[in-house]
Amino acid sequence: MTAYMANESEPFSEKLRVPEALTFDDVLLRPKESHVEPDEANTASHVSKNVEVNVPVLTAAMDTVTESDMAIAMARHGGLGVMHRNMTVDEMVSEIERVKQADELIIRDVVTASPDQTVREVDEMMGRQGVSGAPVVSDDGEVLGIISGTDIRPYLEVGESDAVREAMTDEVITANEDVTPREALELMYEHKIERVPVVDDENRLVGLVTMAGILQRREYDSAARDEDGHLRAGVAVGPFELDRARAADEAGADVLFIDCAHAHNRDVIDSAREIKDEVDADVVVGNIGTREAARDVIDFADGVKVGIGPGSICTTRVVTGAGMPQITAIAQVADVASQHGVPVIADGGIRYSGDAIKAIAAGADAVMLGSYFAGTDEAPGRVITMNGKKYKQYRGMGSVGAMKSGGGDRYLKDDEDGEEFVPEGVEAATPYKGTLESELHQLVGGMQSGMGYVGAESIPEFKERAEFVRVSSAGQQESHPHDVVITDEAPNYSPES
Ligand code: XMP
Repeated sequence: MTAYMANESEPFSEKLRVPEALTFDDVLLRPKESHVEPDEANTASHVSKNVEVNVPVLTAAMDTVTESDMAIAMARHGGLGVMHRNMTVDEMVSEIERVKQADELIIRDVVTASPDQTVREVDEMMGRQGVSGAPVVSDDGEVLGIISGTDIRPYLEVGESDAVREAMTDEVITANEDVTPREALELMYEHKIERVPVVDDENRLVGLVTMAGILQRREYDSAARDEDGHLRAGVAVGPFELDRARAADEAGADVLFIDCAHAHNRDVIDSAREIKDEVDADVVVGNIGTREAARDVIDFADGVKVGIGPGSICTTRVVTGAGMPQITAIAQVADVASQHGVPVIADGGIRYSGDAIKAIAAGADAVMLGSYFAGTDEAPGRVITMNGKKYKQYRGMGSVGAMKSGGGDRYLKDDEDGEEFVPEGVEAATPYKGTLESELHQLVGGMQSGMGYVGAESIPEFKERAEFVRVSSAGQQESHPHDVVITDEAPNYSPES
């Protein structure tokens, strides 16, 4: 590069003609005439070509953010949890299975009783397992009866040593595997029962449908579910982890996220393409941050994820000097991806609901957040108290701690030679926030209000109508509460952010 010297008449070197790149605080949505009430705004969107969600929010694939508890809660509330990969393949498979089985109509892991057990034994067993009834099955799995608290009650004290076969109801109403929730409810209503064993052609137990289970599914009416009614599950896989990708696919994951800090890398792209060829699940490729990177993955990716260094725990930009402010990164990638019908996920840097809806305005179809959700009950890790305030641990996947427990290759380096890691993230704590449900409610409510200010009823309409204005630093200051002392914390605003 030719150095530029003041007073020299030579032109600037090409490299000093630096284009500007913007991030969340640099822009605001231009308010527009609106006939849309915020709660009417429909937030349905896509996270990948074949996976639709009612809430365009994903939780980050980080070991202090998303495991199966978070993924279950997210899918129940309409979004998607992306489970991290700092775990063995077997652990990952059981985490995916946990999500898939969480709201299953037919419970497969059924607590059963044997006809020869005593009433007392079964009563104690049901107490231990937390169930109020159990099918009674023979040694080869044939359903002989069903026993519940109502059957047991008359036997307590006087007939506790009697065999279960004496106390059970032996006229059992059963269903087959094709039963729908409606049919199961009709059976329960007609026969005044609360559980129906599901049997095969030879009357052998294959599962159980319960009234409580059906009512719980109804509570989550905007849940993200697959064609079979199971909750959706996302999972991170390394770009070179073909075996992990195959195992995740077989376990039923809906979306695999190629988990790489810089996916615009020839080897990463070749390997991601190979993974895409091998699996049925959608494959989202990331992270990228430029239109050239988008062009290089768009022919095979089912989605792209954007974010080079915007995250709250990231030090990539200061350690490597590389990165792309997030609004510009999203806009560049979306320019290319939207022409090919490939959904864009904006990953990292979102502190407020306003940032999330700005990301959508810039061209994203959904947003991914880490720190926003790391303080919730559903995130892994325990609550710690410091100076009387509650926190949860939150660490970058490129931090020393996370890399030591297995996540190093996201940052393309390892300590196999015994050399020290060069981290690109920090280990931190984030204020404890309570349930995911209430945090998500605030986030999505704020996003819907943003849609209202722009007069858009749906995400596609919003993307079409939204325009930004550029904000000065005085404008940024004006945007936050100022010239006051905050006396009561708001549920969706913290000056600490
Ligand atoms: P937020 O801002 O939501 O960001 O906390 C979460 C996203 O940050 C990325 N991530 C990292 N980036 N070094 C980085 O440069 C890291 O150690 C690191 N860990 C996570 C990731 O994309 C995540 O979704």
